[in-house]
Amino acid sequence: MAKAMSHPVFARLYPRIAAFADAHGSIEHRQEMLTGVRGRVVEIGAGTGSNFRHYPPEVTQVVAVEPEPRLRALAEKAAAEAPVPVDVVAGLAEELPLEDDGFDVAVCSLVLCTVKDVPGALAEARRVLKPSGELRFYEHVRSERPGFRRAQKALALPWRLAGGGCHLTRDTEHAIQEAGFAIQDIRRFYFLINGRANPASPSIIGTARPST
Ligand SMILES: C[S@@+](CC[C@H](N)C(=O)[O-])C[C@H]1O[C@@H](n2cnc3c(N)ncnc32)[C@H](O)[C@@H]1O
Repeated sequence: MAKAMSHPVFARLYPRIAAFADAHGSIEHRQEMLTGVRGRVVEIGAGTGSNFRHYPPEVTQVVAVEPEPRLRALAEKAAAEAPVPVDVVAGLAEELPLEDDGFDVAVCSLVLCTVKDVPGALAEARRVLKPSGELRFYEHVRSERPGFRRAQKALALPWRLAGGGCHLTRDTEHAIQEAGFAIQDIRRFYFLINGRANPASPSIIGTARPST
């Protein structure tokens, strides 16, 4: 397996960041992303397992892939309390340790901002999805507003260093389409915390299907 970049400080901080974001609206975004999900699910870069408790009962299994050991241990705890069966495994988005055509849904939340190789990760998601499967995504992306985009560019390097390799200026919607998915629905919004924008505010939630 290729090695994930190690971000021990971020791994220590992320549980608090995720809890803060969840308390300020991210829970609703996670629920929106997972509405109607059913069958066998692969969750890519599951972090602490913040999505697990939001899977609907129609989900028969979640295989949650997470490369970072500290976050993976927290995900294992969350899996034990999840309302559906969740198996947490080590692995990278770019080399999923999973079979072809095995999943009904692939879930990416706040992870395509961070993976090293976005086309590689999306190609892997496509490989493990059944042809009838779907990609559910909740991601922060580059802004469509020029002024805000300039601010994102200026902050990109310190943000990446402090944020475990997180990129502020990725055009993830375009990357999903380039990877051979057709967007079925997408909601673009600014995730304001306490009414305020932050560099990661421009966000998308949606569904895409492998195009033929
Ligand atoms: C911002 S956190 C998001 C975690 C979780 N998906 C969530 O919604 O809270 C980014 C996650 O991506 C993981 N990650 C980073 N590079 C990865 C890669 N190449 N493959 C899979 N996961 C990766 C990190 O370990 C971390 O758990």
